[in-house]
Amino acid sequence: MTINPDIYSELSDHIKPSPIRALMPFIRQPGVISFAGGLPAPETFPVKQIQEITHNILEEEPGSALQYGPTTGDPRLRQAVADRLSKKMGVDIEMDQVIITTGSQQALFLAAMIHVNRGESVGVESPTFTGGLSAFDPFYPNFVPFEMDQDGIKTDQVEAWFAAGNSLKILYTIPDFQNPTGVTLSLERRKHLVELAKKHNFIIIEDAPYTDLRYSGEAVQSVYSLDDSGHTYYCGSFSKIFSPIRLGWLVAPKSVIDRLNVAKQPVDTCSPMLTQALVYYFLTQNYLEPQIEKITAFYKARRDVMLKVLDEVMPEGVTWTRPEGGMFVWITVPEHVDVQALFHKAIENKVAFVTGSAFFIEGAAKQNTLRVNFVSENGEQIEEGIKRLAQSLKEML
Ligand SMILES: Cc1ncc(COP(=O)(O)O)c(C=O)c1O
Repeated sequence: MTINPDIYSELSDHIKPSPIRALMPFIRQPGVISFAGGLPAPETFPVKQIQEITHNILEEEPGSALQYGPTTGDPRLRQAVADRLSKKMGVDIEMDQVIITTGSQQALFLAAMIHVNRGESVGVESPTFTGGLSAFDPFYPNFVPFEMDQDGIKTDQVEAWFAAGNSLKILYTIPDFQNPTGVTLSLERRKHLVELAKKHNFIIIEDAPYTDLRYSGEAVQSVYSLDDSGHTYYCGSFSKIFSPIRLGWLVAPKSVIDRLNVAKQPVDTCSPMLTQALVYYFLTQNYLEPQIEKITAFYKARRDVMLKVLDEVMPEGVTWTRPEGGMFVWITVPEHVDVQALFHKAIENKVAFVTGSAFFIEGAAKQNTLRVNFVSENGEQIEEGIKRLAQSLKEML
């Protein structure tokens, strides 16, 4: 049977598969050490506590835990998230400023859904998280890339964008240990962003799934806490500090949460009540902070191995970021190196990474870049994998 090509919508033709998932058939070959994925280390999942809490929930509240729930989320979890963030950020966040989402991926999608009209400008870091781009893409925005350096997004470029008479609806930023670069946005630039948002009336979406994963250096105040004008939304996730059980949140003014509530109804009605109850008890039985301490110690050791081996074996002309937290290091190789060819050479040598071009909007790509994840493989594999990567590079140089 031939399928009539007209059965598909314009949107279905427009959206593209994740460039990272397209690398999977290569990465999954036997013996390949993979720095490609964005997965947390399964060794860190708090399985025992999950068993214990789930058992208790099913004993004591099966009727509500296995039932549909409010679209904005289990009120107990909304309150617990509001309390935790208020304390951490030193600001007052009310429960009705929080919506629980099915991962922060959904928070980004819903925010795009309620704000972005076709052709409106959405500012993004260049490079940025591919899932962020794909959350906005269905609404046909005009993506505006702003370059990054070791202090994060270059806010003078944002200022220049407005000075040239342009506008922005949203600016999407990942200020802490950014995916993919590992870079943290400086305090000065955070303040500058807020100043620009107030002056030019755009929304800042602060995406902060890695903030709790700090291994060195001092925490920087969130953009949200620097903004007393309501222009900043703050979204976060339990994926990296608990498990990618698919729960995240978004904090915004209450009127925005009311809109997001309506937007989420046709998407999934509500996020699963069982997992929300599980995370609620995990938080209120004070398991979360010790869990974060455990994960950060575990990941810090892996980051340290990766940075040490990079220092030891990388050929001259190669540079990389030194992230204070998160999951990724961003490597820049000499400009004449074809990173696509390097990827295939590395696969021959049984090591995988993600080509940097995957993280840029079309036309803005710095081709001589790549991302490596330092949390998924153990210390020995990191050492061996980075040696294989250096070897592959030397074969190409
Ligand atoms: C910057 C960033 N934002 C959001 C997400 C989505 O996280 P989740 O939907 O699992 O909460 C990720 C996942 O890798 C990410 O790196």
